[in-house]
Amino acid sequence: MTARALFVAGSTGTVGRAFMRLADARGVDVVGHRRPRPDRPGGADDFDLADEARLVASMTGRTTVVQLIGTMRRRFGAGDTYETSDIGTTRHLVAAAQRAGTVDHLMLLSSVGAGKPVGAYLRAKHEAERLVTGSGIPWTIFRPSSFDGDGHRPPWGMASLTRLFGLSALRPILVTELTAAILHVATTRAPLGEILEGAPLWRVVAAARSDGDAQAGEHAG
Ligand SMILES: NC(=O)c1ccc[n+]([C@@H]2O[C@H](COP(=O)([O-])OP(=O)(O)OC[C@H]3O[C@@H](n4cnc5c(N)ncnc54)[C@H](OP(=O)(O)O)[C@@H]3O)[C@@H](O)[C@H]2O)c1
Repeated sequence: MTARALFVAGSTGTVGRAFMRLADARGVDVVGHRRPRPDRPGGADDFDLADEARLVASMTGRTTVVQLIGTMRRRFGAGDTYETSDIGTTRHLVAAAQRAGTVDHLMLLSSVGAGKPVGAYLRAKHEAERLVTGSGIPWTIFRPSSFDGDGHRPPWGMASLTRLFGLSALRPILVTELTAAILHVATTRAPLGEILEGAPLWRVVAAARSDGDAQAGEHAG
């Protein structure tokens, strides 16, 4: 397998920041995309994902695109919508990955429920998934439930109720568990062509945990 070189979209978000920290700590070759924002200083390398020439240039040589972008209704006031953030950015990333020619793995952070979408948020995730699975590039999709940690808190009682009733697809996930699982899939390029929701997602979380334990052991030894 070609050495993995990651391009991360959404590197400034909650999951993105945690992912970049972990990838850096593990010595993974990673480039994080940032869009220009007037409230964020030091953005000489920042560009809009609609700038196709810059996107293709920065993706050329990368093997893996990790799409972590998304928005929420409360951000609509700042100009983001599901159409622009969840669908539009995925469209730009897929087109650029096809043009760059070096990308052999597309990864998308979607959401539980995107398979049978109810409401605008899940319909947007469903459409983003369709763009990725129809890209002709090998892919992996993550469909986690509510995040826990790094400022996110799942609805009260959700963790215990989902455990009690065996609803593994709805079980909240720690942001640290999720980022380790995404990094595991990105660096091993497996599984491909799979939607990770419920049991398959928790299997990858467990594999990533053993990965982390093994690496911690190497550093200790
Ligand atoms: N919260 C949950 O419980 C949950 C559960 C399942 C799935 N998810 C999904 O997980 C994903 C990541 O969540 P998160 O909490 O890390 O999100 P977040 O903190 O809101 O971060 C969103 C990221 O997307 C970027 N972004 C948004 N619109 C963009 C655009 N038009 N162009 C370029 N970048 C754009 C933001 O960039 P800026 O920093 O420039 O704004 C930021 O990096 C989202 O897709 C979300 O829907 C969330």
